Amino acid sequence: MPADNLIDGRAIAQEVHADTESRVVALKSAGVEPGLRFVRVGDDPASRAYVGMKERAAAKLGIRSETTVLPEETPEAELLELLEKLNIDPAVHGVLVQAPLPGHIDETKVFSTVSPAKDVDGFHPVNAGKLMLGEAGGFVPCTPGGVHELLIRSGVTIEGVEVVILGRGNIVGKPMAAILCQKKQHANATVTLCHSRSRDVAGHCRRADILVAAMGVAGFVKADMVKPGATVIDVGVNRVEDPAAEKGYRLVGDIDFTAVQPVAGKITPNPGGVGPMTIAMLMRNTVRAAGQQTGGGGR
Ligand code: GUN
Repeated sequence: MPADNLIDGRAIAQEVHADTESRVVALKSAGVEPGLRFVRVGDDPASRAYVGMKERAAAKLGIRSETTVLPEETPEAELLELLEKLNIDPAVHGVLVQAPLPGHIDETKVFSTVSPAKDVDGFHPVNAGKLMLGEAGGFVPCTPGGVHELLIRSGVTIEGVEVVILGRGNIVGKPMAAILCQKKQHANATVTLCHSRSRDVAGHCRRADILVAAMGVAGFVKADMVKPGATVIDVGVNRVEDPAAEKGYRLVGDIDFTAVQPVAGKITPNPGGVGPMTIAMLMRNTVRAAGQQTGGGGR
């Protein structure tokens, strides 16, 4: 299998981490220890695994992190109260409430309660609004921010090209569209956002110079939906049953990788593509938040 068209997310994430680490060192020499608080509600195994990965990344970079785990049945008011406390805790510069939350908790309310200054997820309406308006200084959601960084660092032309995004979620699809259509360097793309009610999704995909799949349907994108030479980014993480696997399932993306790789100009592996970038952008956002809150600025 030719591997020369792979976008190595792990390697690119390491480049971002190296930059972040030097900012951690600078903050610490100015007497600031960047602090990140994770909040998990319930015991979703995937959320536990994701938060675990983020904790390890923080530790490696010298960012102090702590995780608060609340029981599944925690009332919404209790979670909001905790967030209000974290908002005024000077040792906590970033707060991340891992989604999905249990059904009785209103996610929108939760994300709106985290202070915009500590919203390293970029989910608060103030940060979402800044992104939409192209205003500097807000926090960009980590997964679409990571995809953007992958494209830039892989030398993919974004300016003027056709981008098709599959999925209109608030965490990936919508902010991804907002990032790529900005009137800015490394943006200026023509963006089409497809979703479950779109007509002729395959037709849209075939026009894409950059195709970003983030709709959560295992192996949805087939070879005949991809323009030869296109850049293909797989954000999907889907569980498919596999009796041969140790856990009884395996994780696959939204792209039929084996079929699409020979057609694509560049393609992300999955795992090893977007996932490491999400974590890298979270760490970068955290260090920026620490800098901004302590008067140290922060790019
Ligand atoms: N669940 C899936 N992706 C994310 C993310 O980027 N942030 C949070 N907080 N939860 C998620």
